[in-house]
Amino acid sequence: MRIDIVTIFPEFFDVLDISLLGKARQSGIIDLGVHNLRDHTHDRHRTVDDTPYGGGAGMVMKPEPWGEALDGILPAGPGDPLVIFPSPAGEVFTQATARELAHEQHLVFGCGRYEGIDQRVFDDTASRARVRLVSIGDYVLNGGEVATMAMIEAIGRLIPGVVGNPESLVQESHEDGLLEYPSYTKPAEWRGRDVPPVLLSGNHGAIAAWRREQQLERTARVRPDLLG
Ligand code: ADE
Repeated sequence: MRIDIVTIFPEFFDVLDISLLGKARQSGIIDLGVHNLRDHTHDRHRTVDDTPYGGGAGMVMKPEPWGEALDGILPAGPGDPLVIFPSPAGEVFTQATARELAHEQHLVFGCGRYEGIDQRVFDDTASRARVRLVSIGDYVLNGGEVATMAMIEAIGRLIPGVVGNPESLVQESHEDGLLEYPSYTKPAEWRGRDVPPVLLSGNHGAIAAWRREQQLERTARVRPDLLG
């Protein structure tokens, strides 16, 4: 998968060199390009924002640098690109979204800052690519960088070959619509706390039933909304 990111904080994405996603890049599963929006400004101050038409608080990101940055990225990548603008005003990102986006060939993330991006950037981009505004939750961040990082991690680990043991993807929170069951490892007793005996029984049917029960109990307690 090709991933391009447009941001005024390219260093933010240096951490994508490490961990599982870093390995996926080294092995060529993920091909990442990070682009500094300011490289597409042409004034001495490398200005990316200006005051809003109609007045109001805060600054709005200017369209010209965005247009030029996306002009350089969109035709160059493979397939039919999907451009994602992280925004608290977007559709909510879920595990289902991550699963869907893991099939894309080319994702472009446009990280906005300040009070937003000039609306014409979305309209212009939508005239030549698929565009989605995506929120990672009902809270407000300072910009799209942290949201982009969260989405890339959630999507990237679903791409075949990124996570070593694909079985581990199946048994985790949200994959079956429920929260994950509690996990234990050795020692069997620690600070006076025992591992639930069923997990030591070797009875696979009983273990599966216990885990299911734990998932249902935890989901009902913490996230009753998931049970519908
Ligand atoms: N930018 C600011 N807040 C955001 C959020 N909750 N999700 C995605 N992008 C954002």
